[in-house]
Amino acid sequence: MQTRAFGLTGLHVTPLGFGAMHLNDDRVSEAEAGHLLNAVLDAGVNLIDTARGYGHSEARIGRHLAHRRQDFLLSTKVGYGIPGHADWTYGCILAGVDAALTRMRCEHLDIVHLHSCPLATLERGEVTRALEDCAAAGKLRVVAYSGENAELDFAMQSGRFDAVQTSLSLCDQGNLPERLAALRARGLGVIAKRPLAGAVWQQTQRPEAFAEGHYWDRWQAMDLGEAPEGLSWNEVGLRFTAHCPGVSSSIVGTNKLAHFLENLAWVQKGPLPPDLVATLLSAFQSHNQDWFGLI
Ligand SMILES: NC(=O)c1ccc[n+]([C@@H]2O[C@H](COP(=O)([O-])OP(=O)(O)OC[C@H]3O[C@@H](n4cnc5c(N)ncnc54)[C@H](OP(=O)(O)O)[C@@H]3O)[C@@H](O)[C@H]2O)c1
Repeated sequence: MQTRAFGLTGLHVTPLGFGAMHLNDDRVSEAEAGHLLNAVLDAGVNLIDTARGYGHSEARIGRHLAHRRQDFLLSTKVGYGIPGHADWTYGCILAGVDAALTRMRCEHLDIVHLHSCPLATLERGEVTRALEDCAAAGKLRVVAYSGENAELDFAMQSGRFDAVQTSLSLCDQGNLPERLAALRARGLGVIAKRPLAGAVWQQTQRPEAFAEGHYWDRWQAMDLGEAPEGLSWNEVGLRFTAHCPGVSSSIVGTNKLAHFLENLAWVQKGPLPPDLVATLLSAFQSHNQDWFGLI
């Protein structure tokens, strides 16, 4: 698969990445997790995204992919959940990076995000300094922020982050067009998370999860009807996000190999026709004032 420059970091990422959050699911056996992770790399995708908070996900990546660590870029998120350290402190970040290295059985991480810390924490600066110190020590390559709205603006304008991870989908377009253009102009790598909006269009009732529930409400309000002929909303949604100018990689979450391969084929079909993109932008823009980015 062709790669894109990850901002000015010097890294190159595939336009489709693998969101490994769903590897936390106990219904996925260890053998299935190992098969899926290896199949993702065998298919040519080079970015895997996980987080401290995704249960078994980091450990499974370590168990099944440590032997081929040179084949992919590893992205994770820290800031909380380390025994003996208060969340969102200098020590918690340092220990979080060390814990991720141990769990994932490797000597360096490629992209490490502060995982949605609040604005006041970002402004205090110590957690950013901790990530910078880990980068200086060779434990990680790219200092990144994951989040939305005012926090994301602060992170971008601080000049201390080389990349961000942020929500972008048919139902979460608040970063378009200005913020995405500004991120691009500043040379930041951009990972689009939740690129399918949890695929709410295929649900039969409102999901209970916070973001997906809101995406469901938005989708009803956008009232786009049937997918254009010959396409599904999954394909439209993914091609919309993956080919937004400024997006480096889109990390769809799935624990089904067939879905992953389908996503790969869709991304490789390229951008949607411009008139369809205009319709999708306009369906969101009529509500844009109230529809903030969802973490
Ligand atoms: N930084 C953060 O705070 C944050 C927050 C949320 C997510 N993330 C990252 O973003 C990734 C993606 O987020 P997400 O999983 O919440 O949302 P998503 O990628 O927008 O949607 C995932 C949903 O889409 C379905 N799906 C995927 N491919 C499909 C296909 N080809 N056909 C039908 N359904 C398909 C999945 O179900 P199946 O399992 O059935 O395929 C799953 O229910 C996560 O894995 C994580 O890495 C980061």
